[in-house]
Amino acid sequence: MAQNPPQIAIIGAGIFVKSQYLPRLAEISDLVVLKAIWSRSEKSSSEAVDIARKVFPNVECKYGDDGLDEIIRDSDISGVIVALAAQIQVDMSLKFLKAGKHVLQEKPAAACISELETALSSYTALYNDPSTQKIWAVGENYRFEPAFVESKKLVSEIGDMMSVQVIIEGSMNSSNPYFSSSWRRNFTGGFILDMGVHYIAGLRMLVGCEVASVSAMTSHVDTTLPPPDTISSVFQLENGCSGVFVMLVSSKSPKIVWRVVGLRGTVQVERGNKDGQHGYVVTLFTGNGETKSSFYPFSGVNEELKAFLSDISKVTLNGNKIEAEARSSYVEGARDVAVLDAMLESGMRQGAFVKVEKL
Ligand SMILES: *[C@@H]1O[C@H](CO)[C@@H](O)[C@H](O)[C@H]1NC(C)=O
Ligand SMILES: *[C@@H]1O[C@H](CO)[C@@H](O)[C@H](O)[C@H]1NC(C)=O
Repeated sequence: MAQNPPQIAIIGAGIFVKSQYLPRLAEISDLVVLKAIWSRSEKSSSEAVDIARKVFPNVECKYGDDGLDEIIRDSDISGVIVALAAQIQVDMSLKFLKAGKHVLQEKPAAACISELETALSSYTALYNDPSTQKIWAVGENYRFEPAFVESKKLVSEIGDMMSVQVIIEGSMNSSNPYFSSSWRRNFTGGFILDMGVHYIAGLRMLVGCEVASVSAMTSHVDTTLPPPDTISSVFQLENGCSGVFVMLVSSKSPKIVWRVVGLRGTVQVERGNKDGQHGYVVTLFTGNGETKSSFYPFSGVNEELKAFLSDISKVTLNGNKIEAEARSSYVEGARDVAVLDAMLESGMRQGAFVKVEKL
């Protein structure tokens, strides 16, 4: 007998909900029922509901404290997507986990190390009986991009790792819809933390081990952006290999590239376009002078949503035992924040050596 698709609610009605979650959920509308959208204000919730209704005709508009309570008490809703200002996401996610819902929270996992530690211990403390545990996933999508899944395999073919370079010249200017987002301007680490978790996720996925320590310089040059807007870090991986992470939030000639150099070859992942599609060009440079390139269009948000929905269905089927996708687990998102937190701390201390907190 076919199982009914899980019913979910979206908590938040901001840019990412309207431009990504609603269209991506519409593409997989056979796998999910969107039961409600909540926002603090009725206006923003109903705007998002108007878009969603074209695909999910019965979606309900919820707002304010009462609307939130109605979603919490609705036992048909088994999971929620939390996409709010980073400052309040952890509290909101824990509220829903406590109410017995599975949660997919937008990145960043938390705003700083102390909040990460509190979040992780509060999550564990919710469940006396581990078999009642609910899924807490973080939406960062990079670990689901086919480009990174494939590149990770290529890295295993290039022999001992010698050097890693991550160069991010972003394009966060006034044409970008997130540019004037108020919470990102009132957030320690600014866009470096909010955007940077993606690039660190890509790095950690490619190298297959943790960043152990960092030393970084930060600066604030473009005063239309919150500080800091540049960071240059050296880092050492647990496997002993060292590398550099350079990120600027806004440049006139954007470039986004990861390079892993091994004894027998190099793997490079670079943001690019092909036939009007955005994605990544993955290149393998081998020892005998050959190069092989493939283009992978973006599909990380889609893959990540499918994994979350399929995990919810499995939990329901297997009587609560969770075997959730590790790539979107809360702790993975937390480790990305921990690396940036260490870099930002080093930057504040003029490049001091900082060990990355192990989570
Ligand atoms: C913002 O960056 C994009 C991408 O690089 C560019 O096309 C656009 O012209 C820039 N806008 C401004 C106002 O600089
Ligand atoms: C900025 O963040 C602080 C702490 O999270 C908060 O108390 C304050 O109200 C925020 N200010 C604005 C303008 O959002």
